[in-house]
Amino acid sequence: MQPHTMTLPGDAAEYVVTQHYDQYSDVEHGTWKTLYERRMEQLSTHACKEYLEGLRVLGMRAERMPVISDINKTLQTRTNWMLLPVSGFLPGRTFFDLLAARVFPVTTYIRKPDSLDYTPEPDIFHDIFGHVPMHAHKVFADYLQAFAQIARQITNDADQERLGRLFWYTVEFGLIREGSDVKMYGSGVISSVKEGDNVVHRGCKIHDFSLEEVLDTHVKVDELQPTLFAIENFEQIYEATKEARKVFGV
Ligand SMILES: [Fe+2]
Repeated sequence: MQPHTMTLPGDAAEYVVTQHYDQYSDVEHGTWKTLYERRMEQLSTHACKEYLEGLRVLGMRAERMPVISDINKTLQTRTNWMLLPVSGFLPGRTFFDLLAARVFPVTTYIRKPDSLDYTPEPDIFHDIFGHVPMHAHKVFADYLQAFAQIARQITNDADQERLGRLFWYTVEFGLIREGSDVKMYGSGVISSVKEGDNVVHRGCKIHDFSLEEVLDTHVKVDELQPTLFAIENFEQIYEATKEARKVFGV
């Protein structure tokens, strides 16, 4: 199914755009290539094996920006997730309604060559290179939906903020143990040189994942992460959503 033929939840349809692939310039493809190659220098040894496998099976490559409809063909067969091109940030409720339906909104534009390290809003590099390879992993894919099913039921600000920390310290900044190593799977560490270096050079503390501690750990959005959490396996965070249901009474 293509995004335009499906029934979208809530007001999501208002945000849908088309990826005009033939309108990307050589400069934009070049920016993708620079970002991709720069991150792979570190990720080939410091990203988790599930992320690297996702990158491979989804056919992503440095030379060209990704074609969303091509990724969808593989992703739908593998984990029944679908990417939906959107104009930018979505309201929280819309975002989680989509995720609960296994639809992941992605932007189609790419940052400018003079601001490779900083994009005020998510762009296609963060959204697709950073997030989407993990969506090809069955347990992570189920975790993301389970998280969203909880998030969309929470309406008070304090609980939304607390639950948001689980998203932040897993989907955005998650780490995982592989033997005696710690590897990256969260899009924030995957897509950012500075955040990646902060993990590799141990600028941050790395704690074992605990739902209780994650929910109590404030999020820092404007500085390098001081504390991150390493899971043992993806089943651990899937199981944590069952615990989170009890914590938040949903
Ligand atoms: Fe993100």
